[in-house]
Amino acid sequence: APVVPFHGAHQAGILTPSQRSAAFTAFDVTARDRSELAELLRILTERLRFLTAGGSPLPAGIGEPPSDSGVLGPVVPADRLTGTVAVGASLFDDRYGLSGLRPRRLRTMDVFPDDAPEDAWCHGDLMLQLCAENPDTVLHALRDIARHTRGLMQVRWRMDGFVSPPRPGGSPRNLLGFKDGTANPDIRDSRLMDRLIWVEPGAGEPDWAVGGSYQVVRLIRMLVEFWDRVSVNEQERMIGRARDTGAPLDGSAEFDAPRYAQDPKGDVVPLDSHMRLANPRTPADAATRLLRRGYNYDQGLLSNGDLDMGLVFCCFQQDLDRQFVTVQKRLAGEPMTDYIKPYGGGYFFALPGVRGPADRLGSALL
Ligand code: HEM
Repeated sequence: APVVPFHGAHQAGILTPSQRSAAFTAFDVTARDRSELAELLRILTERLRFLTAGGSPLPAGIGEPPSDSGVLGPVVPADRLTGTVAVGASLFDDRYGLSGLRPRRLRTMDVFPDDAPEDAWCHGDLMLQLCAENPDTVLHALRDIARHTRGLMQVRWRMDGFVSPPRPGGSPRNLLGFKDGTANPDIRDSRLMDRLIWVEPGAGEPDWAVGGSYQVVRLIRMLVEFWDRVSVNEQERMIGRARDTGAPLDGSAEFDAPRYAQDPKGDVVPLDSHMRLANPRTPADAATRLLRRGYNYDQGLLSNGDLDMGLVFCCFQQDLDRQFVTVQKRLAGEPMTDYIKPYGGGYFFALPGVRGPADRLGSALL
């Protein structure tokens, strides 16, 4: 269906099956006080409610600028648009009197050993993740929201992304040529999602955060010229899966489960392969699983003439430290680090959902 429902206990764009196009935009909030911040959240709610449903923009008065950019024609299609609003740790500094309400794990993004952070591409008070089937739908929504929130927030950085259709089937491929997303937890299993994705009552988080989720965004450049000079066999040993089928190296089909217990020395699936480090699949690792919802990006060229492309790694989890940080630490120094370079992104907290027409984003926060 072209419309993804906007209202619910959780925001859309988290468990929503990936749309083809996305824009991840981090903003600095410039609202002067608490009431202006509440106004910003009200406007975001109202615009996303309209844009995700689609329909006819309001007519403009004679001599007034049009109420809509017109980029999508006179009737705005829903096109499976979702807008997911998350907040950064910096929103909880002294500016708005929210310091006692910061989600417990939320902080400025850690710098891991293989990272090369570039300040212009990091952090932000607010992350807006827009996803839709077509790039012009995403762009139209971003432009509409920028227009309506002028003076209340301004863009800090933005990265657009795309997901390819399955080729030839199964999960879509990232720009290293491998299927990506295979081992994600099952989004249809709501009890599993309650254990892995959503903040639950009684978890030591502030009450307002229940129903929200920690969002990690990482901008990771891929050194594709270098990668393309590596044999397929070596590439597969770095990932732990076959490139064509996406099957684990000890299996034959994409969704076959690897049997690490039968391969304790890593003769078939190397112990330092990305997949095996990320999730060694002992019973204890079940609680560290996270939901990846990444997008490929292509930014043209670097100043040295190399292709500038990579992955907007994005994942959601109930507990930033138990899940993302644990997994990222296990990946330190993995063989794939020679071919990728994380340089941007941030830690955010996706707000709980908007319950109905009278509710707005962050209503339990302020
Ligand atoms: C699995 C690629 C970064 C966590 C995979 C797979 C591929 C892949 C091809 C196997 C298929 C699948 O299950 O989706 C990449 C690339 C990256 C990257 C190219 C960077 C450019 C990361 C990061 C994390 C991560 C930063 C988290 C810190 C995982 C996890 C799995 C996985 C948890 C599933 C492991 C399992 O349960 O078997 N990745 N990944 N990846 N990746 Fe990554």
